[in-house]
Amino acid sequence: MAVGTYASTQSTSHPHPTILPTPEALADAAAARFATAAADAVRARGSFVVALSGGTTPRRMYERLAAPPYVDGVPWPHVHILWGDERCVPPDDAASNVRMAREALLDHVAIAPEHVHRIRGEVEPADAAASYERTLRRLLGTPHGPPRTVPGARIDLVLLGLGEDGHTASLFPRVIGEGDGDAWTAAVHAAGGVAGSPWRVTLMPHVINAAAEVLFLVAGASKAAIVRRVLDGPRRPDALPAQRIAPTDGRLEWLLDAAAAGAATGER
Ligand code: 6PG
Repeated sequence: MAVGTYASTQSTSHPHPTILPTPEALADAAAARFATAAADAVRARGSFVVALSGGTTPRRMYERLAAPPYVDGVPWPHVHILWGDERCVPPDDAASNVRMAREALLDHVAIAPEHVHRIRGEVEPADAAASYERTLRRLLGTPHGPPRTVPGARIDLVLLGLGEDGHTASLFPRVIGEGDGDAWTAAVHAAGGVAGSPWRVTLMPHVINAAAEVLFLVAGASKAAIVRRVLDGPRRPDALPAQRIAPTDGRLEWLLDAAAAGAATGER
């Protein structure tokens, strides 16, 4: 149940975010959105390709998907799992995004192991990025050239979080990924206060922007200031990489809980 839309103070290219009253309601809304997108994609093309986000916010949503009605309602055998980014750590490391997803979701649903396309955090970052790009190109049937925004050749749903510094995936402020302009992935060195290894592998913005749908999930009062800067502040995509996310012809949606929207702290 949405509690209303964010009272944006300036026109932005972003749609009005949907505000949910609690983190639990946010997880419920995100899980429902995931299930709808999966059903639509499988009905239309027989498969659903989703890129999961890491960090802590999406865990509750993944746990919802691993419980009724979604544990049986989502067509899991037709789902392909990707990640928007990964920490360059082994897959059993506490900081690993694939470990979190396995614990919260993948070990509890009927997904085919060969449909889980993890980023190999245990190898050299540049090799992990290159290997992941090969996987993406094979899965999306685009062996050469830029991502394509045609159904069946693009990611159906990309889930994203938002860091307090304005990063999303592992697109950190003023960090130029080691991929070249056309690369679909990059190895990124994000030194300073980053969980696990400072090295990360990330999808590049143009791959995310080629998706059919991008869903930001942001929760907690600590994110209220950065949400307002990203959505209402001046466009400064180098400093605020989340502002680089603008799907070419896909759907962009922001799901916030009341605290992240500033409602709970009177910041409206
Ligand atoms: C990661 C994520 C990262 C995350 C934000 C928000 O690997 O950590 O991809 O972009 O979404 O940092 O993290 P929280 O949900 O933990 O606040």
